[in-house]
Amino acid sequence: MSKTNSQVITCKAAVSWGAGLPLKVEEIQVDTPKSSEVRIKMLCASLCHTDILCCNGLPVPLFPRVPGHEGVGMVESVGEGVKELKEGDIVMPTYIGECGKCENCMSGKSNLCLEYPLPFSGLMPDGTSRMSINGQKLYHFFSCSTWSEYIVIDSNYVVKLDPRIAHSHASFISCGFSTGFGATWKEVKVEKGSSVAVFGLGAVGLGVVEGARMQGASKIIGVDINEKKREKGKAFGMTDFINPSGSDKSNSELIKELTGGTGVDYCFECTGVAALVNEALEATKVGIGTSVLIGAGLQQSGKINFVPLLCGRTLKGSIYGGVKIQSDLPIIFEKCINKEINLDELLTHEVSLDEINKAFELLKQPDCVKVLIKI
Ligand SMILES: NC(=O)c1ccc[n+]([C@@H]2O[C@H](COP(=O)([O-])OP(=O)(O)OC[C@H]3O[C@@H](n4cnc5c(N)ncnc54)[C@H](O)[C@@H]3O)[C@@H](O)[C@H]2O)c1
Ligand SMILES: [Zn+2]
Ligand SMILES: [Zn+2]
Repeated sequence: MSKTNSQVITCKAAVSWGAGLPLKVEEIQVDTPKSSEVRIKMLCASLCHTDILCCNGLPVPLFPRVPGHEGVGMVESVGEGVKELKEGDIVMPTYIGECGKCENCMSGKSNLCLEYPLPFSGLMPDGTSRMSINGQKLYHFFSCSTWSEYIVIDSNYVVKLDPRIAHSHASFISCGFSTGFGATWKEVKVEKGSSVAVFGLGAVGLGVVEGARMQGASKIIGVDINEKKREKGKAFGMTDFINPSGSDKSNSELIKELTGGTGVDYCFECTGVAALVNEALEATKVGIGTSVLIGAGLQQSGKINFVPLLCGRTLKGSIYGGVKIQSDLPIIFEKCINKEINLDELLTHEVSLDEINKAFELLKQPDCVKVLIKI
């Protein structure tokens, strides 16, 4: 690999060439950063379920593409307009910026910054790419593409890391864990003593469990078809577990049985199974229940049942758990440093970038929560 900070870098990256095809680890070219951009040498990354969707061409089929949106790296070079970051800084690439000035940032109600939005185009904010392979344009994934030895990202999507945070933990915070954790605190405010149900105990769902516990929820019901998630859920503070496989009752019926017939105050859908959105609605209390839709799946839409919604329930969608990268991530970092949050339980497997396809196979195994990718 050749590198100087004023030149294009040739390095290894995982490339997705088409929907559902295995990834290929290839030599790619990564351009120099433009004025507001930084080039980052990635140190580690991880696999979020949304990467699987990306490799299947969702939400937008853009190929060839470098996937990955979780990870940690070191700034290798900065554009001339970048003031807040310098070479050698340890950073986390993110996929939503926070300008602090747009209507949404000012509202106090949303993390979806209008100035630095979640990019679906697979391109930099100026509409071009910084990655190519033998002269052919490569699409980015969101603003990140972390499964590459080097990436270029607009500095407004980058957060500096406290060196006391383990890189693996930071990688999980960069999407999955914070999405669930944030949802209990930023997207809705789970009150002390309330009841919560969580569909799907991956990193996102376990983040919900941890967040609900910290908010003081008295009942936290985890629902997963994988029996191994019973122990994982307990480690994060789950009080009850439902494995719906083999039951002839629906999730909402099983949850009502555990809550004196009323259902829960909050239900978080973290599986991406479209049919479960109605179950999440039904599982909450009439009049005051709220369901938060976090999961995204291969089947991208389904019919919402109006009757449970009309009965005073709320359905809320969430990207990144409502977490703002500048205002809220430091609070999560601080909890990690104080060991109020311990993310060791999430890390179950490690692979090298060369073994990237193995990560997808590992995630299907019952004992897997998070696969760390060493770069
Ligand atoms: N909205 C966002 O900002 C955001 C961010 C990150 C991830 N996501 C999405 O959240 C979802 C979860 O991500 P993850 O990385 O934790 O995934 P994961 O694959 O690690 O975990 C999913 C869990 O759901 C369980 N599950 C699957 N089908 C089920 C069913 N029918 N009933 C009960 N449990 C079931 C699985 O056993 C697994 O434990 C994915 O859809 C992902 O795309 C959304
Ligand atoms: Zn903004
Ligand atoms: Zn993700």
